[in-house]
Amino acid sequence: MNKLTETFTLSNGVEIPVIGYGTWQTPHDGTTKECVKMALKAGYRHIDTAFAYGNEDEVGLGIKESGIPREEIFVTTKHWITDRGYEETIAAVEKSLELLGLDYIDLYLIHWPCVEKVTEDWKKVNAETWRGFEKMYKDGKIKAIGVSNFEKKHIEALYESCEIKPMVNQLEFHPGYTQLENIRWNQNEGILVEAWSPLGSGAVLKDETLNAIAKKYNKNVGQICVKFALQNGILPLPKSTNEGRMASNAEVFDFEISAEDMETLMNMPLLGFSGFVPEEAPADALVNGN
Ligand code: A2P
Repeated sequence: MNKLTETFTLSNGVEIPVIGYGTWQTPHDGTTKECVKMALKAGYRHIDTAFAYGNEDEVGLGIKESGIPREEIFVTTKHWITDRGYEETIAAVEKSLELLGLDYIDLYLIHWPCVEKVTEDWKKVNAETWRGFEKMYKDGKIKAIGVSNFEKKHIEALYESCEIKPMVNQLEFHPGYTQLENIRWNQNEGILVEAWSPLGSGAVLKDETLNAIAKKYNKNVGQICVKFALQNGILPLPKSTNEGRMASNAEVFDFEISAEDMETLMNMPLLGFSGFVPEEAPADALVNGN
């Protein structure tokens, strides 16, 4: 049974399909376009990309060539760190729209917060970027706005100046790295949490505990990870370039993980963690080489 058109409702009333198809690290050599078409054929109606992934144009082509009406597909893209600031953000939205070949974005996220390590003016930098988000949202170019990799302190700082609160926070979440406190705080704020690398970028798939749990439900570990996110009220963004695995990652609507197993999954030892800590400005370090 495929329920990929089921939705979570964001704080502004926008409906967002419950599982997104992720495109991080999907190559820009025709692969992304074909994968997006495959994912849409498999029933996904939510595609997650980013300017920094360098494949927005192929995501757009995949959508066009799928023949599925634009309004039936939910498209998320993300603002990159080199575009921080009000005017820069407005230009960044226009640039992403052009690359995607679309006239609106369903959800636009600040990819990484500006943090103290980057500048002591980090609060102001994020506030100015967010003002650009609010402007494009009000202009109808973006249907929902949010953040990614933000900790509580970064969102609380935004609250000091924002008119519109973020609707989404996309965070690393998978068995072996759950950052539970941050997740529950966001959820209590009415912010929908999305999970990037819900399968720990593949690193958790061989784990014995996970395999034992999967066996119990006659499922595979990928499906356990996706369901683990959903049962926590978190929107997972699994990615695969393989048609079979893409489809299998979405076959998660015919079983329920027990409370006991959910507890085990939530309390696993550290496993598959990317190593990215927002306060350490990992994206800035990559771009600036420091
Ligand atoms: P592949 O593209 O060959 O399927 P994440 O979504 O956590 O970032 O994980 C993605 C990684 O996990 C990719 O390397 C992908 O490889 C692999 N993967 C995705 N789904 C599955 C699955 N169901 N079983 C095994 N590996 C998977």
